[in-house]
Amino acid sequence: MTRPKISVIGAGNVGATVAQILALKEMGDVYLFDVVDGIPEGKALDILEGGPHWKSDSNVVGFTTVNKENYKNLEGSDVIVITAGLARKPGMSRDDLLQKNVEIMTDVGKNIKKYAPDAKLVVVTNPADIIAYALQKITGIAPSRIIGLGGSLDSARFRTFIAQELKVSVEDVNAFVIGGHGDDMVPFVRYSSVAGIPISNLMSKEKIDEIIKRTRFGGGEIVNFLKSGSAYYAPGISITAMVESIIKGKNRVIPCAAFLTGSHAKHYGVKDIFIGVPIRIGENCVEEIYDMDFNNEEKLLWNKTVESVNASCRKVDEFLAGKL
Ligand code: LAC
Repeated sequence: MTRPKISVIGAGNVGATVAQILALKEMGDVYLFDVVDGIPEGKALDILEGGPHWKSDSNVVGFTTVNKENYKNLEGSDVIVITAGLARKPGMSRDDLLQKNVEIMTDVGKNIKKYAPDAKLVVVTNPADIIAYALQKITGIAPSRIIGLGGSLDSARFRTFIAQELKVSVEDVNAFVIGGHGDDMVPFVRYSSVAGIPISNLMSKEKIDEIIKRTRFGGGEIVNFLKSGSAYYAPGISITAMVESIIKGKNRVIPCAAFLTGSHAKHYGVKDIFIGVPIRIGENCVEEIYDMDFNNEEKLLWNKTVESVNASCRKVDEFLAGKL
């Protein structure tokens, strides 16, 4: 039996951490790619050699893309996780990375199109909603086969902070964060609960607001500590949850950046952009998009995040014009 093939492009902290978690959970064979010579080969071998202790037979191999020919090893990938690009430094927003990372994606995307046009893409490179949009344009892959990291991680942070405050198990906290994976993301209080009990019954409004703020800047809080990079442990497992749901056809419902078009675009008041909404993730990637209803206050928050994602997508349109 052949194991699923999962490629990870970018062997920095996020890429290598995802590769390790995928391998130790024996999710498939993992192919790690990076433009720096030696890093993907070395990290892949290092992860592989832990296999006996993890009781995992996943094969893990690394390829440098200094030699562009090596992209041919993407062939046959079931899922490709894209983490390549610059990460934030203190004081930077995810949007500050836009231009440089879109530039990097033109090269990555063209090679995905050439060697693995049937793969499903999990986009992590920031700003993830916008990079998902750019990669869809560059690769021409069906939008329903592309999802971007956002809510999976932001919701994990939100749940963690709620659990800590209420001294309950993280397992019993259900919560989600929608919208763009940026400072305007929307932690959704009305649908957040502890074993079904709404959090607004358990915490003061002030406390909830404090937790929302901390969630929104959760990535930045870590960047400020690390100084020379952004988070990777929580992103690593949050990405793995998305990949696992595809590989195993688990049909998990996770908020992710997905392409909103047709009736969903109409419902959410957007036009053909990727933005975080709750979706069901299965073997075909996006199996279903759930339309959420907003009250007036939520609608204002939603409109704000849409506005910033929209504006960035238009910048991508300008940047890619004439380049494809
Ligand atoms: C963060 C990065 C992955 O939120 O955007 O930590």
